[in-house]
Amino acid sequence: MAEKPEYIPGLAGVPAARSSICLIDGSVGKLQYRGYPIEALAEHCTYEETVFLLHHGKLPSAAELEAFSASLAAERTLKFRIIDLLKNLPESGHPMDALTAAVAGLGMFYPGDHVEDLDFRGLTAVRLVAKLPTIVAAWHRIRRGDEPIAPRSDLGHAENFLYMLEGEEPDALTAKVMDVALTLHAEHSMNASTFTARVTGSTLSDPYAAVASAIGSLAGPLHGGANERVLTMLRTIEDPTTENIRRWAENRLARKEKIMGFGHRVYKAKDPRANVLQKLATQLFEERGRSPIYDVAVELETQMDQLVGHKGIYPNVDFYSGIVYEKMGIPVDLFTPVFAIARVGGWLAHLLEQLEGNRIFRPSQEYIGERDLELKPISER
Ligand code: CMC
Repeated sequence: MAEKPEYIPGLAGVPAARSSICLIDGSVGKLQYRGYPIEALAEHCTYEETVFLLHHGKLPSAAELEAFSASLAAERTLKFRIIDLLKNLPESGHPMDALTAAVAGLGMFYPGDHVEDLDFRGLTAVRLVAKLPTIVAAWHRIRRGDEPIAPRSDLGHAENFLYMLEGEEPDALTAKVMDVALTLHAEHSMNASTFTARVTGSTLSDPYAAVASAIGSLAGPLHGGANERVLTMLRTIEDPTTENIRRWAENRLARKEKIMGFGHRVYKAKDPRANVLQKLATQLFEERGRSPIYDVAVELETQMDQLVGHKGIYPNVDFYSGIVYEKMGIPVDLFTPVFAIARVGGWLAHLLEQLEGNRIFRPSQEYIGERDLELKPISER
Protein backbone atom coordinates (compact mmCIF):
# COMPACT_ATOMS: atom_id res chain seq x y z
CA MET A 1 0.00 0.00 0.00
CA ALA A 2 1.31 3.47 -0.90
CA GLU A 3 2.52 5.45 2.11
CA LYS A 4 0.19 8.27 3.22
CA PRO A 5 1.79 11.65 2.42
CA GLU A 6 2.77 13.66 5.48
CA TYR A 7 0.77 16.82 6.24
CA ILE A 8 3.07 19.87 6.04
CA PRO A 9 1.59 23.16 7.35
CA GLY A 10 1.88 25.97 4.82
CA LEU A 11 3.10 23.35 2.28
CA ALA A 12 6.61 24.45 3.33
CA GLY A 13 9.15 22.89 0.98
CA VAL A 14 6.53 20.89 -0.97
CA PRO A 15 7.10 21.32 -4.75
CA ALA A 16 3.84 22.50 -6.35
CA ALA A 17 5.14 22.79 -9.93
CA ARG A 18 8.09 22.11 -12.23
CA SER A 19 9.19 25.54 -13.37
CA SER A 20 11.98 27.13 -15.37
CA ILE A 21 11.11 30.72 -14.45
CA CYS A 22 12.86 31.52 -11.18
CA LEU A 23 15.70 30.00 -9.19
CA ILE A 24 16.18 30.82 -5.52
CA ASP A 25 18.95 29.45 -3.33
CA GLY A 26 17.91 30.84 0.02
CA SER A 27 20.96 29.52 1.87
CA VAL A 28 23.27 31.94 0.02
CA GLY A 29 20.77 34.65 -0.98
CA LYS A 30 20.77 33.79 -4.71
CA LEU A 31 17.90 34.84 -7.01
CA GLN A 32 17.81 34.35 -10.78
CA TYR A 33 15.09 34.90 -13.41
CA ARG A 34 15.42 32.36 -16.25
CA GLY A 35 19.05 31.82 -15.19
CA TYR A 36 20.06 35.51 -15.03
CA PRO A 37 21.17 36.89 -11.63
CA ILE A 38 18.80 39.53 -10.24
CA GLU A 39 21.70 41.93 -9.63
CA ALA A 40 22.59 41.91 -13.38
CA LEU A 41 18.96 42.32 -14.46
CA ALA A 42 18.47 45.23 -12.03
CA GLU A 43 21.58 46.94 -13.35
CA HIS A 44 21.27 46.36 -17.09
CA CYS A 45 17.62 45.63 -18.02
CA THR A 46 14.40 47.62 -17.93
CA TYR A 47 11.20 46.19 -16.46
CA GLU A 48 9.85 45.70 -19.99
CA GLU A 49 12.93 43.60 -20.91
CA THR A 50 12.52 41.61 -17.70
CA VAL A 51 8.87 40.84 -18.42
CA PHE A 52 9.77 39.74 -21.97
CA LEU A 53 12.38 37.43 -20.45
CA LEU A 54 9.90 36.02 -17.93
CA HIS A 55 7.16 35.45 -20.52
CA HIS A 56 9.25 34.30 -23.48
CA GLY A 57 12.10 32.50 -21.69
CA LYS A 58 14.85 34.55 -23.38
CA LEU A 59 16.08 38.14 -23.40
CA PRO A 60 14.68 40.16 -26.32
CA SER A 61 16.69 41.44 -29.27
CA ALA A 62 16.53 45.22 -29.81
CA ALA A 63 13.74 44.78 -32.40
CA GLU A 64 11.78 42.40 -30.16
CA LEU A 65 12.04 44.78 -27.23
CA GLU A 66 10.87 47.69 -29.35
CA ALA A 67 7.83 45.74 -30.53
CA PHE A 68 7.06 44.44 -27.02
CA SER A 69 7.37 47.90 -25.44
CA ALA A 70 5.12 49.35 -28.16
CA SER A 71 2.47 46.68 -27.54
CA LEU A 72 2.56 47.42 -23.80
CA ALA A 73 2.29 51.17 -24.43
CA ALA A 74 -0.66 50.60 -26.77
CA GLU A 75 -2.55 48.66 -24.09
CA ARG A 76 -2.16 51.20 -21.26
CA THR A 77 -5.49 52.99 -21.62
CA LEU A 78 -8.60 52.02 -19.63
CA LYS A 79 -12.12 51.84 -21.00
CA PHE A 80 -14.16 54.71 -19.54
CA ARG A 81 -16.49 52.25 -17.82
CA ILE A 82 -13.56 50.83 -15.83
CA ILE A 83 -12.86 54.40 -14.74
CA ASP A 84 -16.57 54.74 -13.87
CA LEU A 85 -16.28 51.53 -11.85
CA LEU A 86 -13.37 53.05 -9.87
CA LYS A 87 -15.38 56.26 -9.36
CA ASN A 88 -18.14 54.24 -7.72
CA LEU A 89 -15.89 52.63 -5.10
CA PRO A 90 -15.64 54.20 -1.60
CA GLU A 91 -12.64 56.57 -1.54
CA SER A 92 -11.71 55.37 1.97
CA GLY A 93 -11.21 51.80 0.69
CA HIS A 94 -7.76 50.24 0.35
CA PRO A 95 -6.18 50.60 -3.13
CA MET A 96 -5.52 46.82 -3.22
CA ASP A 97 -9.29 46.22 -3.04
CA ALA A 98 -9.88 48.77 -5.81
CA LEU A 99 -7.24 47.00 -7.91
CA THR A 100 -8.81 43.58 -7.34
CA ALA A 101 -12.25 44.91 -8.31
CA ALA A 102 -11.00 46.66 -11.45
CA VAL A 103 -8.95 43.68 -12.68
CA ALA A 104 -11.91 41.34 -12.13
CA GLY A 105 -14.02 43.91 -14.01
CA LEU A 106 -11.59 43.91 -16.96
CA GLY A 107 -12.44 40.25 -17.53
CA MET A 108 -16.00 41.29 -18.42
CA PHE A 109 -14.76 43.70 -21.09
CA TYR A 110 -12.33 41.21 -22.62
CA PRO A 111 -14.17 37.89 -22.28
CA GLY A 112 -11.81 34.96 -21.87
CA ASP A 113 -13.56 31.73 -22.71
CA HIS A 114 -10.75 30.86 -25.14
CA VAL A 115 -7.85 30.61 -22.71
CA GLU A 116 -6.41 27.69 -24.72
CA ASP A 117 -5.84 30.09 -27.65
CA LEU A 118 -2.15 31.11 -27.63
CA ASP A 119 -2.77 34.52 -29.25
CA PHE A 120 -5.44 35.36 -26.68
CA ARG A 121 -3.08 34.31 -23.86
CA GLY A 122 -0.19 36.43 -25.17
CA LEU A 123 -2.36 39.52 -25.76
CA THR A 124 -4.02 39.16 -22.35
CA ALA A 125 -0.64 38.93 -20.62
CA VAL A 126 0.48 42.17 -22.33
CA ARG A 127 -2.85 43.84 -21.53
CA LEU A 128 -2.71 43.00 -17.83
CA VAL A 129 0.92 44.12 -17.38
CA ALA A 130 0.09 47.34 -19.26
CA LYS A 131 -3.14 48.23 -17.47
CA LEU A 132 -2.33 47.62 -13.80
CA PRO A 133 -0.27 50.84 -13.39
CA THR A 134 -3.06 52.85 -15.07
CA ILE A 135 -5.64 51.41 -12.66
CA VAL A 136 -3.52 52.16 -9.57
CA ALA A 137 -2.73 55.73 -10.67
CA ALA A 138 -6.35 56.39 -11.74
CA TRP A 139 -7.70 55.12 -8.41
CA HIS A 140 -5.23 57.23 -6.45
CA ARG A 141 -6.40 60.38 -8.26
CA ILE A 142 -10.11 59.50 -8.19
CA ARG A 143 -10.13 58.96 -4.42
CA ARG A 144 -8.69 62.48 -3.97
CA GLY A 145 -11.37 63.93 -6.22
CA ASP A 146 -9.01 64.45 -9.21
CA GLU A 147 -9.56 63.22 -12.75
CA PRO A 148 -7.26 60.36 -13.88
CA ILE A 149 -4.38 61.31 -16.14
CA ALA A 150 -4.28 59.48 -19.48
CA PRO A 151 -1.19 57.29 -20.00
CA ARG A 152 1.51 58.43 -22.43
CA SER A 153 2.89 55.99 -24.97
CA ASP A 154 6.21 57.86 -25.32
CA LEU A 155 7.30 57.07 -21.74
CA GLY A 156 8.76 53.86 -20.32
CA HIS A 157 6.60 51.61 -18.12
CA ALA A 158 7.92 52.88 -14.76
CA GLU A 159 8.21 56.48 -15.93
CA ASN A 160 4.64 56.51 -17.24
CA PHE A 161 3.28 55.15 -13.95
CA LEU A 162 4.92 57.97 -11.99
CA TYR A 163 3.70 60.48 -14.57
CA MET A 164 0.09 59.27 -14.23
CA LEU A 165 0.17 59.77 -10.44
CA GLU A 166 0.81 63.52 -10.42
CA GLY A 167 0.98 64.60 -14.06
CA GLU A 168 4.68 65.37 -13.90
CA GLU A 169 7.45 63.49 -15.67
CA PRO A 170 9.81 62.07 -13.05
CA ASP A 171 13.50 62.95 -13.12
CA ALA A 172 15.91 60.31 -14.45
CA LEU A 173 16.98 58.95 -11.02
CA THR A 174 13.40 58.58 -9.75
CA ALA A 175 12.34 56.82 -12.96
CA LYS A 176 15.38 54.51 -12.76
CA VAL A 177 14.72 53.64 -9.11
CA MET A 178 11.08 52.81 -9.86
CA ASP A 179 12.11 50.70 -12.85
CA VAL A 180 14.64 48.73 -10.76
CA ALA A 181 12.11 48.28 -7.93
CA LEU A 182 9.64 46.81 -10.45
CA THR A 183 12.31 44.43 -11.79
CA LEU A 184 13.24 43.30 -8.27
CA HIS A 185 9.61 42.55 -7.41
CA ALA A 186 8.66 41.02 -10.77
CA GLU A 187 9.05 37.36 -9.83
CA HIS A 188 9.80 35.16 -6.86
CA SER A 189 8.89 31.53 -7.59
CA MET A 190 6.13 29.77 -5.67
CA ASN A 191 5.08 32.47 -3.19
CA ALA A 192 1.46 32.66 -1.98
CA SER A 193 0.15 35.01 -4.70
CA THR A 194 1.90 33.15 -7.53
CA PHE A 195 0.56 29.86 -6.22
CA THR A 196 -2.90 31.49 -6.09
CA ALA A 197 -2.57 32.61 -9.73
CA ARG A 198 -1.52 29.11 -10.78
CA VAL A 199 -4.35 27.45 -8.85
CA THR A 200 -7.00 29.76 -10.34
CA GLY A 201 -5.43 29.41 -13.80
CA SER A 202 -5.38 25.62 -13.50
CA THR A 203 -9.20 25.57 -13.56
CA LEU A 204 -8.95 27.31 -17.00
CA SER A 205 -10.51 30.43 -15.52
CA ASP A 206 -9.60 33.54 -17.51
CA PRO A 207 -6.30 35.34 -16.74
CA TYR A 208 -8.16 38.34 -15.28
CA ALA A 209 -9.67 36.07 -12.61
CA ALA A 210 -6.24 34.50 -11.99
CA VAL A 211 -4.61 37.93 -11.51
CA ALA A 212 -7.51 39.31 -9.43
CA SER A 213 -7.22 36.35 -7.03
CA ALA A 214 -3.41 36.77 -6.89
CA ILE A 215 -3.83 40.46 -5.97
CA GLY A 216 -6.09 39.42 -3.08
CA SER A 217 -3.42 37.01 -1.90
CA LEU A 218 -0.63 39.59 -2.18
CA ALA A 219 -2.55 42.10 -0.05
CA GLY A 220 -2.02 40.25 3.27
CA PRO A 221 0.50 41.57 5.84
CA LEU A 222 2.59 38.37 5.76
CA HIS A 223 3.11 38.79 2.00
CA GLY A 224 3.06 41.99 -0.07
CA GLY A 225 1.24 43.99 2.60
CA ALA A 226 4.39 43.91 4.75
CA ASN A 227 6.04 46.84 2.90
CA GLU A 228 3.32 49.21 4.10
CA ARG A 229 3.57 47.96 7.66
CA VAL A 230 7.37 48.30 7.82
CA LEU A 231 7.14 52.06 7.55
CA THR A 232 4.25 52.31 10.04
CA MET A 233 6.26 50.11 12.43
CA LEU A 234 9.51 52.10 12.07
CA ARG A 235 7.59 55.31 12.81
CA THR A 236 6.54 53.93 16.21
CA ILE A 237 10.21 53.94 17.32
CA GLU A 238 10.24 57.40 18.84
CA ASP A 239 13.74 57.56 20.34
CA PRO A 240 16.17 56.38 17.62
CA THR A 241 19.18 55.71 19.87
CA THR A 242 20.97 52.36 19.60
CA GLU A 243 19.93 51.35 23.14
CA ASN A 244 16.29 52.22 22.55
CA ILE A 245 16.12 50.40 19.19
CA ARG A 246 17.73 47.36 20.84
CA ARG A 247 15.20 47.46 23.70
CA TRP A 248 12.32 47.95 21.26
CA ALA A 249 13.37 44.87 19.25
CA GLU A 250 13.99 42.75 22.37
CA ASN A 251 10.56 43.63 23.78
CA ARG A 252 8.83 42.85 20.54
CA LEU A 253 10.61 39.52 20.14
CA ALA A 254 9.86 38.62 23.79
CA ARG A 255 6.16 39.21 23.08
CA LYS A 256 6.57 36.89 20.03
CA GLU A 257 5.47 39.72 17.74
CA LYS A 258 6.75 39.62 14.16
CA ILE A 259 9.05 42.42 13.10
CA MET A 260 7.84 43.44 9.67
CA GLY A 261 10.37 43.31 6.84
CA PHE A 262 12.37 40.49 8.45
CA GLY A 263 12.33 36.77 7.82
CA HIS A 264 11.51 34.76 4.75
CA ARG A 265 10.29 31.24 4.09
CA VAL A 266 13.12 30.58 1.63
CA TYR A 267 15.94 33.02 2.52
CA LYS A 268 18.10 32.14 5.47
CA ALA A 269 20.58 34.83 4.39
CA LYS A 270 19.85 38.48 3.54
CA ASP A 271 17.39 38.79 0.68
CA PRO A 272 19.50 39.85 -2.39
CA ARG A 273 16.71 42.25 -3.42
CA ALA A 274 17.12 44.08 -0.09
CA ASN A 275 20.83 44.61 -0.91
CA VAL A 276 19.98 46.15 -4.30
CA LEU A 277 17.25 48.35 -2.77
CA GLN A 278 19.58 49.49 -0.01
CA LYS A 279 22.10 50.69 -2.62
CA LEU A 280 19.32 52.59 -4.41
CA ALA A 281 18.22 54.12 -1.11
CA THR A 282 21.78 55.34 -0.51
CA GLN A 283 21.86 56.89 -4.00
CA LEU A 284 18.51 58.62 -3.46
CA PHE A 285 19.56 59.94 -0.05
CA GLU A 286 22.85 61.28 -1.43
CA GLU A 287 20.90 63.32 -3.97
CA ARG A 288 17.85 64.26 -1.92
CA GLY A 289 19.03 64.29 1.68
CA ARG A 290 18.83 61.48 4.20
CA SER A 291 15.53 60.28 5.73
CA PRO A 292 15.89 59.84 9.52
CA ILE A 293 13.77 56.69 9.18
CA TYR A 294 16.55 55.11 7.06
CA ASP A 295 19.00 55.49 9.95
CA VAL A 296 16.46 53.79 12.26
CA ALA A 297 16.13 50.95 9.73
CA VAL A 298 19.90 50.45 9.41
CA GLU A 299 20.29 50.37 13.22
CA LEU A 300 17.38 47.95 13.56
CA GLU A 301 19.05 45.67 10.99
CA THR A 302 22.25 45.69 13.09
CA GLN A 303 20.38 44.90 16.30
CA MET A 304 18.26 42.19 14.67
CA ASP A 305 21.40 40.60 13.26
CA GLN A 306 22.75 40.24 16.79
CA LEU A 307 19.42 39.07 18.23
CA VAL A 308 18.05 36.67 15.60
CA GLY A 309 20.64 36.48 12.80
CA HIS A 310 21.63 33.02 14.06
CA LYS A 311 18.04 31.85 13.36
CA GLY A 312 18.36 32.92 9.71
CA ILE A 313 16.08 35.94 10.16
CA TYR A 314 17.39 38.79 8.00
CA PRO A 315 15.83 41.76 6.17
CA ASN A 316 13.66 40.83 3.22
CA VAL A 317 12.84 42.95 0.14
CA ASP A 318 10.11 44.81 1.98
CA PHE A 319 12.37 46.18 4.67
CA TYR A 320 13.88 48.83 2.42
CA SER A 321 11.29 49.14 -0.36
CA GLY A 322 8.90 51.33 1.68
CA ILE A 323 11.69 53.69 2.69
CA VAL A 324 12.69 54.08 -0.96
CA TYR A 325 9.09 54.60 -2.13
CA GLU A 326 8.41 57.18 0.57
CA LYS A 327 11.45 59.17 -0.53
CA MET A 328 10.05 59.11 -4.07
CA GLY A 329 6.81 60.63 -2.80
CA ILE A 330 4.63 57.52 -3.18
CA PRO A 331 1.84 57.34 -0.57
CA VAL A 332 2.21 54.49 1.93
CA ASP A 333 -0.98 52.67 0.96
CA LEU A 334 0.23 52.49 -2.67
CA PHE A 335 3.31 50.44 -1.70
CA THR A 336 1.52 47.09 -2.03
CA PRO A 337 -0.23 48.09 -5.30
CA VAL A 338 3.24 49.00 -6.65
CA PHE A 339 4.30 45.46 -5.68
CA ALA A 340 1.31 44.12 -7.66
CA ILE A 341 2.20 46.28 -10.70
CA ALA A 342 5.60 44.55 -10.68
CA ARG A 343 4.57 41.01 -9.73
CA VAL A 344 1.88 40.76 -12.40
CA GLY A 345 4.79 40.02 -14.78
CA GLY A 346 5.71 36.96 -12.71
CA TRP A 347 2.12 35.82 -12.13
CA LEU A 348 1.50 35.77 -15.87
CA ALA A 349 4.76 33.94 -16.59
CA HIS A 350 3.58 31.24 -14.17
CA LEU A 351 0.09 31.22 -15.61
CA LEU A 352 1.48 30.74 -19.14
CA GLU A 353 3.71 27.93 -17.85
CA GLN A 354 0.83 26.35 -15.93
CA LEU A 355 -1.36 26.28 -19.02
CA GLU A 356 1.31 24.32 -20.91
CA GLY A 357 0.48 20.75 -19.88
CA ASN A 358 -2.06 21.97 -17.29
CA ARG A 359 -3.42 19.76 -14.55
CA ILE A 360 -6.00 21.20 -12.15
CA PHE A 361 -4.69 21.63 -8.59
CA ARG A 362 -6.48 19.34 -6.20
CA PRO A 363 -4.43 18.55 -3.08
CA SER A 364 -5.77 16.32 -0.34
CA GLN A 365 -6.31 16.93 3.40
CA GLU A 366 -6.12 15.04 6.64
CA TYR A 367 -9.64 14.82 8.00
CA ILE A 368 -9.63 15.33 11.79
CA GLY A 369 -13.35 15.95 12.43
CA GLU A 370 -16.19 13.79 13.78
CA ARG A 371 -17.54 10.81 11.83
CA ASP A 372 -20.87 8.99 11.38
CA LEU A 373 -22.88 11.14 13.83
CA GLU A 374 -26.57 10.55 14.32
CA LEU A 375 -28.60 13.58 13.14
CA LYS A 376 -31.15 14.57 15.83
CA PRO A 377 -34.27 16.56 14.98
CA ILE A 378 -33.84 20.28 15.80
CA SER A 379 -36.21 20.06 18.81
CA GLU A 380 -33.84 17.55 20.51
CA ARG A 381 -30.49 19.37 19.92
N1 CMC B 1 10.11 38.79 13.36
C1 CMC B 1 10.34 38.01 14.44
N2 CMC B 1 10.44 36.68 14.42
C2 CMC B 1 10.29 36.10 13.21
C3 CMC B 1 10.09 36.83 12.03
C4 CMC B 1 9.99 38.22 12.15
N3 CMC B 1 9.75 38.99 11.07
N4 CMC B 1 9.98 35.98 11.00
C5 CMC B 1 10.14 34.75 11.49
N5 CMC B 1 10.32 34.81 12.84
C6 CMC B 1 10.51 33.68 13.75
C7 CMC B 1 9.16 33.12 14.17
O1 CMC B 1 8.67 33.76 15.33
C8 CMC B 1 9.51 31.67 14.38
O2 CMC B 1 10.19 31.58 15.62
P1 CMC B 1 10.01 30.27 16.58
O3 CMC B 1 10.58 29.14 15.76
O4 CMC B 1 10.80 30.63 17.78
O5 CMC B 1 8.54 30.15 16.81
C9 CMC B 1 10.54 31.38 13.29
O6 CMC B 1 11.15 32.63 13.02
C10 CMC B 1 9.92 30.86 12.01
O7 CMC B 1 8.92 31.78 11.58
P2 CMC B 1 7.65 31.42 10.68
O8 CMC B 1 6.65 32.53 10.71
O9 CMC B 1 7.17 30.06 11.05
O10 CMC B 1 8.35 31.35 9.27
P3 CMC B 1 7.58 31.26 7.91
O11 CMC B 1 8.55 30.71 6.95
O12 CMC B 1 6.29 30.55 8.06
O13 CMC B 1 7.20 32.77 7.56
C11 CMC B 1 7.32 35.01 6.92
C12 CMC B 1 7.90 33.61 6.72
C13 CMC B 1 7.83 35.93 5.82
C14 CMC B 1 5.78 34.96 6.79
C15 CMC B 1 7.74 35.53 8.31
O14 CMC B 1 9.14 35.63 8.38
C16 CMC B 1 7.08 36.86 8.64
O15 CMC B 1 5.94 36.88 9.09
N6 CMC B 1 7.80 38.01 8.42
C17 CMC B 1 7.23 39.32 8.65
C18 CMC B 1 6.34 39.73 7.50
C19 CMC B 1 7.14 40.09 6.25
O16 CMC B 1 8.10 40.85 6.32
N7 CMC B 1 6.68 39.58 5.09
C20 CMC B 1 7.30 39.89 3.80
C21 CMC B 1 7.94 38.68 3.19
S1 CMC B 1 9.00 39.11 1.79
C22 CMC B 1 7.97 39.71 0.57
C23 CMC B 1 6.94 38.73 0.12
O17 CMC B 1 7.28 37.60 -0.24
O18 CMC B 1 5.79 39.10 0.10
